[in-house]
Amino acid sequence: PRVGVIVVAAGSGARLAMTEPKAFVELLGETLLERALHSVFGMLEPAQVVIVAPPTHLEQARVIGERAAGVIPGIMSVVAGGETRHASVEAGLACLNPGISVVLVHDSARALTPASAFDAVVAAVDSTGEGIVPALSVVDSIKRIGSGGEILGVVDRRDLAAAQTPQGFPRADLVGAYERAEHADYTDDAAVFSAAGHRVHVIEGHALSFKITTSWDLNRARHLLSDRFD
Ligand code: C5P
Repeated sequence: PRVGVIVVAAGSGARLAMTEPKAFVELLGETLLERALHSVFGMLEPAQVVIVAPPTHLEQARVIGERAAGVIPGIMSVVAGGETRHASVEAGLACLNPGISVVLVHDSARALTPASAFDAVVAAVDSTGEGIVPALSVVDSIKRIGSGGEILGVVDRRDLAAAQTPQGFPRADLVGAYERAEHADYTDDAAVFSAAGHRVHVIEGHALSFKITTSWDLNRARHLLSDRFD
């Protein structure tokens, strides 16, 4: 394959307050990681898939990855993540095969993201040769607040977009950007890529690509699945 997908699943999920790391929490009988992988393996173009898992869950991730891959030809590997998302992505990048030229990075926490969202990002990277981020416009009024909770100012929401994953990039530029990143607290790959001076474009995101962070999000995901929503 020429497309590589790094699925970062090494977070602890502290805000979800479950005993398992978030990717291994079940949603109607299937882990978030497995649900995320169904869409990765449903892509039009078969990809190399790298699962970045907590060091405590490497074997479990391998079993889940093999089950999700089924008979689909592709290459799946599992690697241990790091303390931060940034370190986890770096671990994933190090596992890519030499032939990979386009890399997608996806949060397993966005477990309901449809396969079409991955295909759209690959197509947009191919047509622009630049970084691609799916994003949704912001519907709420956004305020800048002080330490005492007072409103300091207004941010014009027309200037804002809420970034999702999968985000896609030409491999060489992304690897170079991670090597040059001056600090490791960027919360997504587009930030690392732009900090290295590369252009990133936004494409329309998907409502189902929301990140499962809190127990409320997990409930929302459960409701969407039981409604057979797609
Ligand atoms: O913490 P946050 O919600 O930004 O995490 C986004 C994604 O990054 C999740 O899928 C999580 O599993 C992953 N992550 C990781 N390694 C970390 C922290 C987060 O793979 N150390």
